[in-house]
Amino acid sequence: MFFAYTVLVISMNEKRFRYAVYVVLVILILLFYTKDIDLFGKNFYKNIKSIDHPEAIMVLVNKTYKLDDRYIPNDLETISTSYAYENKQLRKEAKEAFESLSKEAETLGFRIIATSAYRDYDYQKKLFEEYVADKGEVYALECSAKPGHSEHQTGLAVDVAGSNDDYDEFEVSMEFPWMRENAHRYGFILRYPKGKEGITGFKYEPWHYRYVGVEIANIIYEEGLTLEEYYDKYL
Ligand code: DAL
Ligand code: ZN
Repeated sequence: MFFAYTVLVISMNEKRFRYAVYVVLVILILLFYTKDIDLFGKNFYKNIKSIDHPEAIMVLVNKTYKLDDRYIPNDLETISTSYAYENKQLRKEAKEAFESLSKEAETLGFRIIATSAYRDYDYQKKLFEEYVADKGEVYALECSAKPGHSEHQTGLAVDVAGSNDDYDEFEVSMEFPWMRENAHRYGFILRYPKGKEGITGFKYEPWHYRYVGVEIANIIYEEGLTLEEYYDKYL
């Protein structure tokens, strides 16, 4: 080791050697800070595991954990059209929480509307395939889950629009800051946050909220976690 070091110093002039040391240090620092970021998606859709308890409110559905194609929640209820587009369903507990959230928002002069909620396996399959056809597979994989890997199939996830009536523009709606700071009080979390793409496997989605119950939503909100990080830390 010492010999190799001496040869290196002699064979380069001191300035170049110092420069090489800086370059190596910068590379090491970059490696350290990006080690948890799955930049190339190498862990996504690999070693897929089937979900044993899809009905658990805490269920983790992602690019690793997959729902059975036949799984349909048995307590789906339709969200009031005061707070949703026509015929949007969530599981009873999530639906009641969502309606309460939207009701409070309404008293503050806001409008939070569910634009998409429960989606069955076949519908998700169609959506994913349409995405691939429209935008190409690489982009589709970042934005849309393959069938069985969407938490919309659990009946616990909801996409929302604000008064600008466009889920894709929810981030610039007047409702977004309120939703971001209050959804957890009703048991919902922002499921795909900015900067956590390497963990969730999906692009930032300011419109997608997932019901996990008030207790866990509070922890996730306070600690700025994703559901994946909550599982790693607490379960
Ligand atoms: N857009 C989310 C990730 C889904 O397709 O479930
Ligand atoms: Zn969604």
